[in-house]
Parts: sequence; structure tokens; C-alpha cells
Amino acid sequence: MLLPRTIAPKAPPIKTQGIKTKVVPIIARSIKWDGNGRWIEPFVGSAVVALNIGPKRALLADTNEHIINLYRGIQDGSINGDSVREYLQREGAELREKGESHYYTIRERFNEHGDPFDFLFLSRSCFNGMMRFNRKGGFNVPFCRKPERFRPALITKIVNQVEWARHVMEGKEWDFAVQDWRVTVADAKPGDLIYCDPPYIGRHVDYYNGFTEEEADDLAKALLKTKAGFALSMWLENKYRRNGYVDKWFSEYPQRTMEHFYHVGPQENLRNAMTEVVILSENVAATN
Ligand SMILES: C[S@@+](CC[C@H](N)C(=O)[O-])C[C@H]1O[C@@H](n2cnc3c(N)ncnc32)[C@H](O)[C@@H]1O
Repeated sequence: MLLPRTIAPKAPPIKTQGIKTKVVPIIARSIKWDGNGRWIEPFVGSAVVALNIGPKRALLADTNEHIINLYRGIQDGSINGDSVREYLQREGAELREKGESHYYTIRERFNEHGDPFDFLFLSRSCFNGMMRFNRKGGFNVPFCRKPERFRPALITKIVNQVEWARHVMEGKEWDFAVQDWRVTVADAKPGDLIYCDPPYIGRHVDYYNGFTEEEADDLAKALLKTKAGFALSMWLENKYRRNGYVDKWFSEYPQRTMEHFYHVGPQENLRNAMTEVVILSENVAATN
């Protein structure tokens, strides 16, 4: 299986900061891989990359058990279009009626029981679609302050995203695992492709996203040693800063870059360009 050359990326059912939806086309175009081994993601996050690539065999891992539980539920059919619609209609109506107190009731309930439907609810009604946890693993993002959030059109959109994810996984050998990236990378064999999208280096944003420089260095060493192919995504530079990590470890490796803009305010002059890079091992670098 060669990767699709052009992809119009679709969005997954959950949101994360730094979600790679826009970078999926360049990832797909940059990699040359026969697809006989496994597509391995040690930091699967929202799973947007794997879902859009759609490999036959995959190992998708993350230390965030809530992400993995949700996708396991979609895979075994316990979370499907009908059950999600029913849940969101019920809880959405309560949110409309009670306002933000209902969001916080669900957040508390989720932090106690970890129900994947509640996780989906929070992901789609928290402030800015962020996914942030405190030291004790409690979800701590505030409400988006839109009690009308779960209108029929949004519910249908989420239902379609869940159904899309289910459909992509159907009949494929996909394993989901809650585990540290070291375990996942160590499991890779020749013929596998490891796609890595690690947390931002040097920024301890929250419980699941603290990646120290030392850990990042360990990741580089593990990738340079693996017998599998690898592709590593990260930010390369903006107007003010360049990511020294890329130059420190990967200056000799094939790199593909893409510029995208993000808004920090309403005006044109507040648009900031950021260059994203995909670094590749020689054995999986496409020529164009
Ligand atoms: C940048 S996000 C991945 C985003 C994903 N590619 C997407 O587009 O949605 C990084 C992910 O790494 C996970 N993570 C953080 N530390 C980890 C570790 N030590 N081992 C495995 N996963 C980890 C986080 O939970 C988070 O989901």
C-alpha cells in the first residue's frame, strides 16, 4: 500500500491542541512506504493522521488513556453513531437548560469515572477544544460558555466523525495501547513505519504534555537507532525562533516543510507564519 498522494483531510471526533489535520497532506506526500508492516504512532493524540492515512495494520498508542478508551469503544462498536447521537441529544438538552453548571457536573463525573461519552462531550464543549489535565490526571479545561453548543447540526457532524472513524478501522488490524512512547518505539520492527508527533519540547503544559529536553533527546536517539522507518513532525521556525532540536539531531536527514498561518488576533498584521517540518529516515523519504 503506497500512501495516498493527495488527501483532503477529515477531522476526527475529538479535538486536541496542535492537531495535525492541516499537515496530513504533506505527511502523506513525504512518505514512501509499502504498507506491509505496521503504521506505528507512539503519540497518537486525536488519531487524525492514522484515520486519514488508513493503514491496514497499525499500533496506535498514547499515555492518555481517555483517548485510547474512546477509540477502543469505537472499534468494538459500543460507541457508534446512534449511541453518540442519543447521548449528545440528552446531555445537550440539559446543557441548554441548566447552562454551564451542567458542563461542570459532567467534568466532575468524568474525572471520577472516566466515561468516554463524557470525554467526547468535554472535548466538544470545552474552551477552544483544548485537552488539558492537571497533575492528578483531572480534566481541567473550562466551559466554552455556549450553552446552545449541541445544536442538531453539530451533533450530526460529531456522529458522522464517529461513523467515519469506525468505518476506517473496520476490517483492519489496529491495536490501541496506553503506553509510554519508549515501549511503542521499542516494539517497532523492520518494515514498520513510526510516525511521531511528540508534545512540544521544553513546555510543561500539563500532565500528559510535559516533554522535557532530555526526553526529547532520548526520542531522537531511539529513532536514529530503530530498524523501522520513521517520520517525525514538529515546528521548525517562525519569525522569532527556530527549533534547535531539529538542527541538533536531524540536520542530515531528509526534511519536508510546510508553512501555515495561525491567528493571534483579528487583524491581518497579527497573522503569524509557522513552518512545520516532517523529518524522515532515508528508507521512507519520498523523492518529491
Ligand atoms: C502533539 S500531541 C499528538 C497530536 C496528534 N498527532 C494529533 O494530530 O492529534 C502529543 C500526544 O502525546 C501524548 N504523550 C505525552 N507524553 C507521552 C509519553 N511519554 N508517551 C506517549 N504519549 C505521550 C499526549 O497525550 C498527546 O496526545
